[in-house]
Amino acid sequence: MLNFKTGDLCKLKADAIIIPVCEDSEIHDNSTVISIINHTGTAKEFKGAKDDELTLFDLPAVKTPRIIFLGLGKIKKIDSESLRAFCGKSVKKCIGKKLGEILIVVPSATKLDNEMQIIIESMMEGAFLGNHLFDKYKKDKKNSPLKKVAFFVEPQILKKFSGLPSRVEIFCSGTILAREWVSIPSNDKIPEQLAKDMAASAGKESLKVKIFDEQKLKRLGFGAMLAVASGSSNNPRLLILEYAPKGAKKTIAFVGKGITFDSGGINLKPSGSLEDMKMDMSGAAAVAATLISAAKIKPEARIIGAIPIVENMLSGDATRPGDIVTSYDGKTIEINNTDAEGRLILADAISYVIKEYKPDILIDVATLTGACVVALGEKIAGLFSPDDELAEKIIQSAKKTGERCWRMPLPEDYREYLKSEFADISNMSSSKWGGAITATLFLSEFIKDTRWAHIDIAGPAYTKKGTDYCGPGGTGFGVRLLCDLIQKL
Ligand code: BES
Ligand code: MG
Ligand code: ZN
Repeated sequence: MLNFKTGDLCKLKADAIIIPVCEDSEIHDNSTVISIINHTGTAKEFKGAKDDELTLFDLPAVKTPRIIFLGLGKIKKIDSESLRAFCGKSVKKCIGKKLGEILIVVPSATKLDNEMQIIIESMMEGAFLGNHLFDKYKKDKKNSPLKKVAFFVEPQILKKFSGLPSRVEIFCSGTILAREWVSIPSNDKIPEQLAKDMAASAGKESLKVKIFDEQKLKRLGFGAMLAVASGSSNNPRLLILEYAPKGAKKTIAFVGKGITFDSGGINLKPSGSLEDMKMDMSGAAAVAATLISAAKIKPEARIIGAIPIVENMLSGDATRPGDIVTSYDGKTIEINNTDAEGRLILADAISYVIKEYKPDILIDVATLTGACVVALGEKIAGLFSPDDELAEKIIQSAKKTGERCWRMPLPEDYREYLKSEFADISNMSSSKWGGAITATLFLSEFIKDTRWAHIDIAGPAYTKKGTDYCGPGGTGFGVRLLCDLIQKL
């Protein structure tokens, strides 16, 4: 879908050429591009202010019939995220106009005072991600994605970065795979089905795949996970994906929360909080898609993806508040709130991964708490880790991919809120406040001495209305971040 074009812009043929224009600075140095931009001089309403738009048709000597000038705003405000947004919006506009192939002009790196690699990568990411439509469930498909998006650059840049389009496609396809899993409604992704679908995609990349069914989980003693599953007629699964290159010296494990629907259980959620709970498997989607994308670039480390998949429902068989269960590692847990189910399935999956695979680093990704959304809003994930070096690397990757993470504290004295009178630990904090922190402290009880980070993606995993480069539904948050991180660890 993505590629480069170079040469004489006037002679290139597409359905539209998109030219980014800045309001306070010239950002191009190709003379043809500059002379085409000069045609906007007569249109007073177009200044290049952010989101300004002007389309000119059939310019003399230009082969492409439609030139769309789009404002980038002030040069100081341009960064990788605004370039991603710019290209996402450009693609969405052209999808709306029913176009098929477009050409986006890349600004000059010296003029933007940024590295060319970062500029092109961000622009390609925005275009590729903005081109995804989730319309599986629509009878009439009003729009179709663009077939081709080319980026106009100078010949030496094309040469230097010729491998970039396919790399961007690998990682962004992972994001889109995760988005689709998240957006699929819960009736079409009961645990058995989701495990199968993820296994099928993973199998294509020759990852090793294991699926544990309910009997196996019972035999192995996944008591906390099974307690969450007990209220649903759809049985749980544990999916394990493994990428194991020869001679690997390190093992990185990812664990993703896979609640295919979170009703809250007997602690039933109120309406208004239930509607989007198909998204409560976004951590699982991010982990599965990360392994699938990572396998394509063949990193050196062994990578494990552990994905507990459960539906949290209520019935006569459901776990009751106050019930005590025994987790995989033997600790007893008093389940004082059946809506705090994510930490239960994660605890067992984490214990299992640590025992069986002895990872050097373990990172779990989960839509764990509403409290994290209260703290950081819908666009920023909460990052928790006792390990400064690991946390710093995650924050660096997050900055690069635009999947923002903010480090949160793990105060030791908050642990007392998890005390239970009857069991080893309670899944529910006795304090009303700091829920994202106490949830993480609960997980930390199962980590032993493994290097570990927890990313709470309850906010950014899902968007009701869509963003500049994402339609409504799952965002695929975390996939590009984790893929980048793998290359840094
Ligand atoms: N799946 C929710 C967290 C969530 C909330 C995700 C909003 C996305 C958007 C989680 O299982 C949950 O219900 N957490 C409870 C924990 C509480 C009962 C301690 C919460 O955050 O209210
Ligand atoms: Mg819940
Ligand atoms: Zn949940």
